[in-house]
Amino acid sequence: MNNFKIKQLFDYDTWTYTYLLWNKSSKNCIIIDPVLEQVDRDINLINKLKLNLLYVFETHVHADHITGASSLKKITNAKICYGSKTGVNGADILFEDGHQINLDNDNITVIHTPGHTGGCVSYYIKGSIFTGDTLFIEGTGRTDFQEGSSSDIYDSIKNKIFLYPDNTIVYPCHNYSGFLNSTIGHERKFNPNVGDEIKKNIFLENEKKKNRPYPKKFDIAVPANLKCGKV
Ligand SMILES: [Fe+2]
Repeated sequence: MNNFKIKQLFDYDTWTYTYLLWNKSSKNCIIIDPVLEQVDRDINLINKLKLNLLYVFETHVHADHITGASSLKKITNAKICYGSKTGVNGADILFEDGHQINLDNDNITVIHTPGHTGGCVSYYIKGSIFTGDTLFIEGTGRTDFQEGSSSDIYDSIKNKIFLYPDNTIVYPCHNYSGFLNSTIGHERKFNPNVGDEIKKNIFLENEKKKNRPYPKKFDIAVPANLKCGKV
């Protein structure tokens, strides 16, 4: 019997996906990339489903929204978890590459996937991978701030994320075109930035040509997120 459940939630202001993962028997639960403005929604859902929020997982220090991590911790006492290379203050657990953490019988693997930021991580659990802003659906995260590196993001995707089987479900932190999730097989075939046919030198050339706007909330979000969203 499959006891594991994933629920995808959306913040329509910043186009951010938050995920709730839980075990249906124990009700133990993890939230990935919560958004401050959606904490009430998330708590109401957690209470309605009678879940025990154990951990808040962040994929990285976000530049486009303030995390709901500290607010959720205040209410539920959940542990705040980031990758060890993020440089955040106030996290309960800092994950190293390859760290394993259990949700009852299921194992979650933390994968350091730098490139969008220096401290980005992805999380793999039971045939699903949560890729943050590293791998998007037919796209990749920007690499022009927060110790971003085009070379690193390419290597993270090709040498770490794409090692998972084709039927692995990809859950990104954002989508701006109405898609919810993807698979590794789909991304290897159709991702115009990093699909199988795109060699590294082409990727690097293409990244250099990109001109991306300064994120609206950058100056507020990054300092707040470096303190786990304490406001
Ligand atoms: Fe980001």
